[in-house]
Amino acid sequence: MLSLKKNVFAAVQPSGTITIGNYYGAIKKWVELQDKFNCSFSVADFHSLSIRQTPKIFNQNILRTCACLIACGLSPQKSTLFVQSDVAAHAELSQIINCHLEFDELFNLDQFRFIKSNYAQNLVNSAIFTYPSLMAADILLYNTNLVPVGEDQRQHVELAKIIAKRFNKMYGKIFTSPEPLVPKTGSQIMSLQNPSKKMSKSDKNELSRISIFDDENTITSKFSSAFLDSPDGKLSKDALNNLAQIYFCATGKKIQMEKDHKIFKKIIAKAVYEDLKPIQENFSVLIKNEDRIKKCYKEGSDKAKITAEKTLKTVKEKLGFIS
Ligand code: AMP
Ligand code: TRP
Repeated sequence: MLSLKKNVFAAVQPSGTITIGNYYGAIKKWVELQDKFNCSFSVADFHSLSIRQTPKIFNQNILRTCACLIACGLSPQKSTLFVQSDVAAHAELSQIINCHLEFDELFNLDQFRFIKSNYAQNLVNSAIFTYPSLMAADILLYNTNLVPVGEDQRQHVELAKIIAKRFNKMYGKIFTSPEPLVPKTGSQIMSLQNPSKKMSKSDKNELSRISIFDDENTITSKFSSAFLDSPDGKLSKDALNNLAQIYFCATGKKIQMEKDHKIFKKIIAKAVYEDLKPIQENFSVLIKNEDRIKKCYKEGSDKAKITAEKTLKTVKEKLGFIS
């Protein structure tokens, strides 16, 4: 039967830990969406390979990320949960998309320019350059209407929309035009150490982020060392807004500033821990049963393949490939 529900697609990279930036900016929202929409969520392992991985740790991270999404409340019954590399169509469509993009369209993207200017001393892997076309393939394979992401990914979804239009104009209607869905609060959780930097999995400073797996003591000590006053004793508005935003995401409530900053930070730490605790409890049970996790994702990729292969077949026919 044809579903009248809108299609939602999003993904998370299995690189290292999931932070509260990922959780409040994306995953917590995905959990709400799955009751209203026809949702597919993926563990984007092809994307993670753009940073050098150690095979054993990479393998563990993929499995842990799968378990984490279920522990956060994504349901294999309600949504299609799958691992990106299980569905070969992603790589194939991304190659086709690459052939329809100008170098400058990728080169001028904010995230690429940021990586290029900040990591110039390291070699920037070419997959980091072409990763927005893989992301566009992820989105366009599933007739996606809405893509729930944090602010940092908005531009990549806009590019997917441009690509959809371009193909439809060149070859006739193939793709659905996707729209970014960026939440009002939580879409830009900043580093606890520097409120002008995004909280990130890859920041060298562990104190900059809260991992979804941090225990109570770690969360308390990271918040207690969070930047709030500049060295001249002046309160940083940006740091304050970031902490208040985190509190709101954890509780749905606004926080009043306390004169005593130690108490203020303790209140936030407690709220975040209370919010993460059930996820950690679910995770510790789930991770003991690898076979169950693998079965969920295998069933998900079987479902995902049906739609993805159908879209890819249409693309190849329209472009003139021999079937
Ligand atoms: P990634 O870890 O890059 O795979 O990101 C997965 C999702 O989390 C994407 O939708 C990102 O936009 C979102 N995200 C990552 N970091 C943050 C952050 N600091 N604040 C809000 N959303 C974020
Ligand atoms: N590139 C996204 C990130 O790093 C993750 C991602 C991969 C994604 N494919 C996607 C997000 C498709 C939304 C839709 O955050």
